[in-house]
Order: sequence, then structure tokens, then C-alpha cells
Amino acid sequence: MPPLLAVDLAPGAKNSLVLRNPVMPASGTFSWGLEFARHFDVNALGAVVSKGVTMVARQGNPQPRVAETPAGMLNSIGLQNIGIKKCISEMAPIWARWDVPVIVNIAGDTPEEFGEMARMLDGVPGVAALELNISCPNVDIGGIEIGQNVEAAGRAVRSAVRNTDLPVIVKLTPNITDPVGLAVACEREGAAAICAINTVLGLAIDTRRRAPVLPRARGGLSGPAIKPIALRIVYDVARAVRIPVIGCGGISSGEDAVEFLMAGATAVQVGTATFANPRAPLDVLEGLARWLEERGIADVNEIIGCALPEPVA
Ligand code: FUM
Repeated sequence: MPPLLAVDLAPGAKNSLVLRNPVMPASGTFSWGLEFARHFDVNALGAVVSKGVTMVARQGNPQPRVAETPAGMLNSIGLQNIGIKKCISEMAPIWARWDVPVIVNIAGDTPEEFGEMARMLDGVPGVAALELNISCPNVDIGGIEIGQNVEAAGRAVRSAVRNTDLPVIVKLTPNITDPVGLAVACEREGAAAICAINTVLGLAIDTRRRAPVLPRARGGLSGPAIKPIALRIVYDVARAVRIPVIGCGGISSGEDAVEFLMAGATAVQVGTATFANPRAPLDVLEGLARWLEERGIADVNEIIGCALPEPVA
């Protein structure tokens, strides 16, 4: 018997977010999903996550925007995107015809702008949930600045939750001393789930030019290099909150996904692996299903959090 794979990412929320399986792409690595839909059936995934959308369209940062590193890559895209109005008028009608929930990643310049964007997306056919991007390290305004400040992050969540019935997921930055405290604050303000983690701040130097490779110097590190960091944060956050956690960071195989689920994640996102292998999310899903089946595990929910310590009574 193939294992049961469905997971619930927003138990008790007004609009539920039950996924047919726990694997989805990470924001920014799957564009709007349309390009990938030409290569495989995206409906096989648990969800699709859009690239980050802002209130107004953006050109993004100057080139180069990526730098390869051992076991990973640095990016500094700068949230290049078409803006929320075009996202609603051009992308959502296509998503509405898909049989897979689409989570829209939104990036406000201010905590209050998250509320405005949430209101604009509320009730739009084709939009199943929101992922608040309070963790982009590559912009001057908003992004990580909000995600590194508990009070600002709380306001962003509150503002979004008040303006939509859609489940609100918050994507955490690892570039903070206390991600657990931030996750707890987001839960208190009504977040339906936490996504951990966005990229880790890093730097690469071009020795020939004697200067940083990326024009803004710093970039966000992703890929296998950050997997242990992501796992540690998922493990810590999952013990501190009651809402589901989505694991993200260096996942490229079914076994990676199993580790995150055991560490307390209810679902996983596949990001950088997709650049080398566009089918990576599907490969992770198939690997996960095989792993469960080979061990006679009937339901993926049986392994979620199984590596967490017993709660102290
Ligand atoms: O530069 C970027 O667009 C990155 C976004 C993110 O990490 O969320």
C-alpha cells in the first residue's frame, strides 16, 4: 500500500490548507510555476509557492545576482517581480485552473503594507494562502529588517491576519539571535504556520577584482551548506509553537525531507536543488514516499516530530 501523504498546514483556520503531500517548491526558485508546468504536472506537488511579490513591480538588483559557493549559492535578486496587481490579474486566473494550492509569497516595505497586500489577495480565486516574506536579505527597505525585529514582525503578521481569511505563513530569517522568540510572537499574532528558514547572510570575494562578487556585497546563502542550520531552527521552533512548521534549507532528497519531518516540520520546501534539477521537488516527493513504503510506515504524519524530545511535564 502506498503511504498516506496528506498533511494539514492550517488546522483550525477559517480557510484550511490541507495538502495532498508535504512537498512544495521554495519561493523564488519556482518563479510563478508556469514555466515548470510545461515540464511536469505541478498538480502532483503538495503546493506551489510563488516568487516574492511586492506592491509595485521591481527590476531587482544589478548583475551579477548569484555566486556559486561550495555546497551552495549566494543570491541577491532584489525581489524582481511583476507587482501585486499583475500577479492578481495575470497569474491568479491561471492558478485557479490548477488542482494544487498556490501560496503567494508577499514582501511588504512596512508591516502595514503586508496588511494592504493581504487585503488585495483575500478571496482571489487561485490564491490558497500567503507566505509573509519578512526575511529577504537583499533589499534596503522591509525584508530582513522586519524579520529581525520582534515588534515589527508581530505587527506585519497582525496586519495581514486582520485583512484576510487566508492562512498566513511567516517565513523566518535565520539571521537573528532568537528565531524561536520571533516564531512565538508570530504565532501569538495569528500566524497559521511558520516557514524556517530563508537564506543565511554570506559574502564571496572576487580576488581578481579585489572586491565582493555581488554588487551589494552580501547575499543570501542557500543549498546543502545551510541544511544543518535550517534543521536546528526547525527543531527549536517546532518545540516552542503549536502551529505547523515548514522546513526549508538545503533539501534535495527524500531522506533530507525525512530529517526535517522528524525534526518537527509538517511540510518541506525544495529550493536551490531546483536550479540544477527542475524536477527536484518531485524527486524529493518520490524519495519520501519510497522511504516510508520501504519501512512499512502507513502515514507520513507518523514521523512528524518523532525526533523531538518528549515535552517536560
Ligand atoms: O533577493 C531576493 O529576491 C531574495 C528574496 C528572499 O530571499 O526572500
